[in-house]
Amino acid sequence: MEQILVTGGAGFIGSNFVHYLLENTDVSVTVLDSLTYAGNRMSLFGLDDKRFRLVVGDICDASLVDTLVAVADAVVHYAAESHNDNSLHDPRPFLETNIIGTFTLLEAARKHQVRFHHISTDEVYGDLELDDPERFTESTPYYPSSPYSSTKAGSDLLVRAWVRSFGLQATLSNCSNNYGPYQHVEKFIPRQITNVIDGVRPKLYGSGKNVRDWIHANDHSSAVWAILNRGRIGETYLVGADGEKNNKEVIQAILNIMGQPTDSFDHVADRPGHDLRYAIDSTKLRTELGWSPAYGDFASGLESTITWYKDNEFWWRPQKATTESKYLQQGQ
Ligand code: NAD
Ligand code: TYD
Repeated sequence: MEQILVTGGAGFIGSNFVHYLLENTDVSVTVLDSLTYAGNRMSLFGLDDKRFRLVVGDICDASLVDTLVAVADAVVHYAAESHNDNSLHDPRPFLETNIIGTFTLLEAARKHQVRFHHISTDEVYGDLELDDPERFTESTPYYPSSPYSSTKAGSDLLVRAWVRSFGLQATLSNCSNNYGPYQHVEKFIPRQITNVIDGVRPKLYGSGKNVRDWIHANDHSSAVWAILNRGRIGETYLVGADGEKNNKEVIQAILNIMGQPTDSFDHVADRPGHDLRYAIDSTKLRTELGWSPAYGDFASGLESTITWYKDNEFWWRPQKATTESKYLQQGQ
C-alpha cells in the first residue's frame, strides 16, 4: 500500500489518523474533505507536502470521487456528519453524507477494485442498560436510536452488501467514543474543557448517569491501521479500550484536573432519546490482530487532552462562540 485516500481527514478522528500514518508508516495520503463546520485545515497544518495533500471536495461528487479512488491503493472512509445533537435538529445532511456519500465511494471502489475500510460507531447497536453485564460484540443486532446512528447503520449495511454482492475488498470497524486533540468543541469532552478555560460551568445533560466507553483517538488509529493491513475481508471489528465512565464522572475528572471544585457544573436539558450506555467488547480485534491500546489509563489521556486544548486555543477559539449560542437556543 503506497497511496491512501482518507475521507473526512480534516475532521477529528480522520486528522488524528493522518498524523498517525505520517508518523508511523511510509504511505502517502490524500485527504478528501469538504471542510464543513466540523472540518479544519489547521488540523493538518505543517504536514510534509511530499507525502500529503488535501483535496477540498464532497464525497457525494461522483466524478471527483472516481478520479481520486482510481489512483488510490486503499480508501479509509471517515467522512460523516457526526454529531447526534445536530442530527436531531436537521437530519438531512446526515442522510446525504452518511448514506449517499458512502454509496458514492463504494461505487468508485467497486469500479476500480480498491481496498476499502469503513469507519463506523458502536451507536449502531443502540444502547445497553446501566446494570447489563453484557457489552456490544460483532454479533449484537443493530438497533440505532438517532438520525446520526441510523444513517451510520445504513452505511454499514451498504458496505456489507457491496462485499457480498460485488466482492468489494472491504472491512468495517465500529468504535466507541473517542477523545483527544482536534475534536470539535461541540462534543462533550472538549466542550467542557473549553468551558472551564472560559470560566463557564460545564453542562451535564439530564442526570449524567449515561455511560460512554472512552478511547483515545490515537488508539483508534492504530486499530484501523491493523485492520487495514491484517483484517479479514468482509469482517467487522469492534474497537474499544475498556474505558466506561458515566458523564458526571467525566465532568468531575475534568474539573479536578483543572483545579476546580468537582461540583461546579450545571445540569441542563437532556437529549431526546438519549442512549443510556455504550460498552465495547474488543476481544476479536485483540485476539485476532494482536491490537491493544497504548492509553490504558483514561485519566492520563484526559490530562494530555486538557493540556492540548490549553496550548491550542488558536485552533478551537473561532468555533466556540457559535457553538455555545447554538446550545443556548436548545436550552443546553
Ligand atoms: P468530525 O465531524 O470531527 O469530522 C467529519 C469530517 O468529515 C469533517 O472534516 C467534515 O468536513 C468531513 N465531511 C463531512 N461531510 C462531508 C462530505 N459530504 N464530503 C467530504 N467531507 C465531509 O467527525 P469524527 O468525530 O472525526 O468522526 C469521524 C468518523 O468516525 C465518522 O464516520 C464517525 O461516525 C466515526 N466515529 C466517531 C466517533 C467519535 O467518538 N467521534 C466514534 C466512533 C466512530
Ligand atoms: P457526545 O460527545 O455528543 O457523543 P455521543 O452522543 O456520540 O455519545 O456526547 C457524549 C455524552 O455526553 C452523551 O451522553 C451526551 C453527553 N453530553 C453532555 O452531558 N453535555 C454536553 O454538553 C454534551 C455535548 C454531551
